[in-house]
Amino acid sequence: MQVRESEIQKIKTKLSSCDKCPLCNQAKNKVFGEGKIDSPLVLIGEAPGKNEDEQGKPFVGYAGRLLDELLSQNGLTREKIFITNIIRCRPPMNRRPLKTEVEACSSHLIDLLNIIRPKIIAPMGNSAINFIFNKVGLENKEIGEIHGTPMNAKLSFGDLIIFPLYHPAAAIYNRKLFTTLLEDFEKMVKILGV
Ligand code: URA
Repeated sequence: MQVRESEIQKIKTKLSSCDKCPLCNQAKNKVFGEGKIDSPLVLIGEAPGKNEDEQGKPFVGYAGRLLDELLSQNGLTREKIFITNIIRCRPPMNRRPLKTEVEACSSHLIDLLNIIRPKIIAPMGNSAINFIFNKVGLENKEIGEIHGTPMNAKLSFGDLIIFPLYHPAAAIYNRKLFTTLLEDFEKMVKILGV
């Protein structure tokens, strides 16, 4: 565990001096992510929004409250898992990250995953799904078709399961999607076996 902690410290230090894309200059805080550094589950969102940028933590706005509800209804807490995003700095006006920004930032996420070595990676929403599917060579389809479907994959540290999910923000104005998310989380937690 101590080795993991020092590896995490190293990549945090690397992030603090990162200037690989223009978003770094505008960020109040670079949002590394938080949780258990040997967690079997890593949830990946898109990018920090206004609240995350201000607080330096992932998912602390309204989507975060929905995420907390999904976790607690499944006996999970933020401390038991790891939550992060595909990029570390807030895009202006909360726009989608550009391909160039994702490319510039991706090593921070890959370094993190190589340290945590999770059993399940759950990309939430299209941006995270696109990135992760590309990375592991899975064929991407409409989120409506693939959400809640476990898929076997490989990263440099070994075999794992990719479990695509809707983004919690998608459920803000659509309560039906919240029920879908809840069902998918239940399925994922069963596979996790915690
Ligand atoms: N949406 C995301 O994708 N990530 C956050 O951290 C917050 C909102």
